[in-house]
Order: sequence, then C-alpha cells, then structure tokens
Amino acid sequence: MTALTLSTAAAPGLRADAIVIGVAKGANGPSVAPGAEAVDKAYDGRLAGVLETLGASGAEGEVTKLPAPSGFKAPVVVAVGLGAEPDKDAGFDPEALRRAAGAAARALAGAKKAAFALPLAEAADAGVVAEGVLLGAYSFDAYKESAKETKGAKAKANGKDPLAEAALLGGKPRDKAYKAAIERAAAVAEELNRARDLVNTPPNDLNPEAFAAVAQAAAKEHGIKVQVLDEKALTKGGYGGILGVGAGSASGPRLVKLSYTSPKAKKSLSFVGKGITYDSGGISLKPAGHNETMKCDMAGAAAVFAAVVAAARLGLEVNVTGWLALAENMPSGSATRPGDVLRMYSGKTVEVLNTDAEGRLVLADALWAASQDKPDAIIDVATLTGAMMLALGSRTYGIMANDDAFRAAVHEAAEESGEPAWPMPLPEHLRKGMDSPTADIANMGERMGGGLVAGLFLREFVGEGITWAHLDIAGPAFNEGGPFGYTPKGGTGTAVRTLVRVAERVALGDLG
Ligand code: BES
Ligand code: MN
Ligand code: ZN
Repeated sequence: MTALTLSTAAAPGLRADAIVIGVAKGANGPSVAPGAEAVDKAYDGRLAGVLETLGASGAEGEVTKLPAPSGFKAPVVVAVGLGAEPDKDAGFDPEALRRAAGAAARALAGAKKAAFALPLAEAADAGVVAEGVLLGAYSFDAYKESAKETKGAKAKANGKDPLAEAALLGGKPRDKAYKAAIERAAAVAEELNRARDLVNTPPNDLNPEAFAAVAQAAAKEHGIKVQVLDEKALTKGGYGGILGVGAGSASGPRLVKLSYTSPKAKKSLSFVGKGITYDSGGISLKPAGHNETMKCDMAGAAAVFAAVVAAARLGLEVNVTGWLALAENMPSGSATRPGDVLRMYSGKTVEVLNTDAEGRLVLADALWAASQDKPDAIIDVATLTGAMMLALGSRTYGIMANDDAFRAAVHEAAEESGEPAWPMPLPEHLRKGMDSPTADIANMGERMGGGLVAGLFLREFVGEGITWAHLDIAGPAFNEGGPFGYTPKGGTGTAVRTLVRVAERVALGDLG
C-alpha cells in the first residue's frame, strides 16, 4: 500500500513528482482551495484564472494537470475538483475531500511520490484525505502475467504501479489528533483494500476453504480468536442452511467465527457476512449475463472480516465477533433441489423453492449462531438481492432492521464514513408470501419488494430480543463501471467503514 506521512515541508522545496491542490466551484468560476496558498503565490496569485483557462471548473472528481511554477522542485501541479465552495466558516464536506484525494491518487498512478496540499483545517480532514489517497491508489494485478513479463515482476495492469508515496502538507504532524487520524485511516484502508483483494480474487482460487485459511492467518497475526467449522463440524452441529447451499460444490462450506475482545469492553457486537465464493444459482442456474461477476457474492463476508481485523488493529474498546458464512453455490448431482426442505441450525425448516436465493440460507444459520452469544447487536452484510440494486442503484446499499433507532444509528455511521446507504422497511404483509405448504417457511416470496422479503426471512433467524440490522450491499459491492473518486473498478470494500464506525461509536458509548 502507498506509504503516507504528514509533512511540515513547504510546497516549493518539496521533492516529489507532483503537488496536488484543491479547486472549488465558486460563484464566479473556479477558486483555489485553502492549502494551496504557496502554489497560488508562485503563479502570482493567478492560479484560479489559469485553471479556468485550462477548462477547470472545480467540479467534483475533475483532474487538471499543469506545469508547476518556476522555483518548484516538483514538476507538475495536479488540481482536483472539490465541488461547490463551502459556506463561509464551514469546512469542505469530508466526502468531497475523500473523493478528491482518491481521484488525484488515481490520476497519479505511475508516480513515485506526490505531495497533497489540500485543505486540512482539522485532524479529521487529514484522516479523510489519507483515506481517499490510500483507497484511491488501490489496484489489483495479481493475475496480470502479461504486464509482469514486459515490465518486470512489479509492473501493474495498466502498466503503472499505484502511487508509492504520499506526503500530506499543511497538517500538524506533531499533533496527537492528526497522528491518530492518519493511523486510523491507514489501518482501515489497508484492511478495506484487503477486502477488495478477496472480492477480486477469482473463485477458482478463493473457495470457502481458502477464505477460511486467509481468516485464520490474519487472526493469528492480530491476536483474534478464530474457530473454523468444516463440513464435518457443520454436519455435527446441524447447520442445514450452510450445508444445503454448499451441497452441490466440490469445495465444502465453512463457518468461520472471529472473536476480537477488549479487556475494557462494555458492549459486544456481532457482524455476520454472506460469503458465497461463487453464486452460479445452483440448480436454479443463473443464465449467462448474470453469473460473470458472481465471485463478488462473498463481499459481505470480506467486509465483516476486514472490519473485525480493523477493530483489533485500532484496539477498540468493544468486543467484536465476526461470522463468515462461506459456501459455493453450484449445481451438481449432490446439489440441493428446488423442492428440498432444509432443517436449519435454529431448528426451523425451510422449503427451498429457488436455489439462487442461497444467501439467506447461509445467513440464517450464521445469524442463529451469532444470536447464541447474546450480543448487544448483530449486523449482517450481504450481496443479497438483485431487487435491492433495482431499488437503490449501484452505489447505495439498503439498511433494514428490527429496531428503528438502531437502523437510524447504522445509517448515521454510514454517512459519517462516506458510504451511501438508505433505510428500507420490513413490511409485515410480505411475510405471508413465504408461507410454505410443507415447511415452516419458504426461501422465496413475492417478487415485488424482493429485497425486503429477504430481510423478513433473515429476521426469523435472529434470536429473541436481539437488536439487528441487515445491510444489502448487492448494488455497491462490485463496481462494474469505471473508477470514480476513491472507488476502483471491481471489489469496492463497501460496508467496511460503516462497520468500523459503528464499532467505534459503540465503544464510545455513543450508540445503543
Ligand atoms: N447473489 C445474488 C444477488 C445479487 C445479484 C448480488 C446481482 C449482486 C448482483 C443472490 O444470491 C440472488 O441470486 N438473489 C436472487 C433471489 C431470488 C431468487 C429470490 C435475486 O435477487 O434474483
Ligand atoms: Mn443467488
Ligand atoms: Zn448470492
């Protein structure tokens, strides 16, 4: 990952490949953002005019490169759009800063070192700029052999390495709050980028067993307790949902429990992740056009895994347990059929009407398992339904819950972390669509409101009296479009930051 430091250096004398500055959209054209005073001065105070002539407007995500003024060691200035100028006395929106830093870091792929002279009015601003840089400089090239052959072992997909080094100017490197903000950003971004790697890893290399091994290694490294239930243990324990989904695959399912405990914890949280390492749909096979990106169906488990490791690295004063419900959904002679009835870990029976509604089956067992510890709250994260994508689009995830205040608190944590999310209801009338003539419940209901139907199914497997929220991240988990801000193509790491923020707030006694 990119090395990031706070620097007291003045922009002109700094040895770097580029200096990044912010440009905002003012009432009368672009305006140079605070932090870039020295750069503007070297252009005789005419930088805003120069930028306007070059076509810059200050719009979010816009990147304009220009030669640095004479006297500067760095050869290039990169002006990145911050969007509308904030009101007088107000700072820049943290997410605008994060995105701008990310867009600049992406534009600087191939460069060795860049200095970021963006507005850092407070320690929190240094934190979001650091996050933006570290998340924007991500690339996944593990499988690009042709690039390696021509450019040497370290060469990257697009022929460019991600930005190697970033120095943030204008902060207070000796100030505790600034240092803490940078350290937090680095820990969260590093784990989030690891979650992206897991999502991007092809399903022939990341099966349930391989994912469990990655979790075991990380747990060992960070002092997290880990338990892995393999097929034998799942059978013995009666985890009919996870086993039923994994039944068609040559790679058996796993349930991984990661327990981070703090001696100072007063509260406990459990995170549950859907970890379908590949979703073919099973016997209810997905048609071509719908299965090419289904390696992303373990993004919920990847987010949970990353969040638990980040909580441990940050030493948060809250107990956090992560449950990874891992299975591969494949059709075969041993696969679960539409019409089969599964006996779940909770004891309930489920008639499987569609084997492509597999996420709720593995989650049901993991939610019930998580409930046995009686945590203060459970949050599950899942690429659960195409319906949620239809409802909220590809950048926003849906939040459902059995408690209005908790849903609002999770939504607030999402907003604070820069993750677009929106509250969704669990309408009672949709429950009867899942009535089964044979079993306690069917795994499918009405087509309309399919994301909410899935939420209602999950609710039945949460222990009595436990506060629970469900994040359906099917839309934003995997970016099929081009990169934007600090979001790359492919795995995005969605929900990691929300989960970490919830854990922080619970640790501080600010939530629940
Ligand atoms: N993994 C899919 C949901 C999904 C779709 C995630 C597109 C990301 C992108 C899930 O397992 C699924 O297949 N859901 C079905 C449920 C239906 C059969 C009730 C769906 O949404 O169509
Ligand atoms: Mn499916
Ligand atoms: Zn799925």
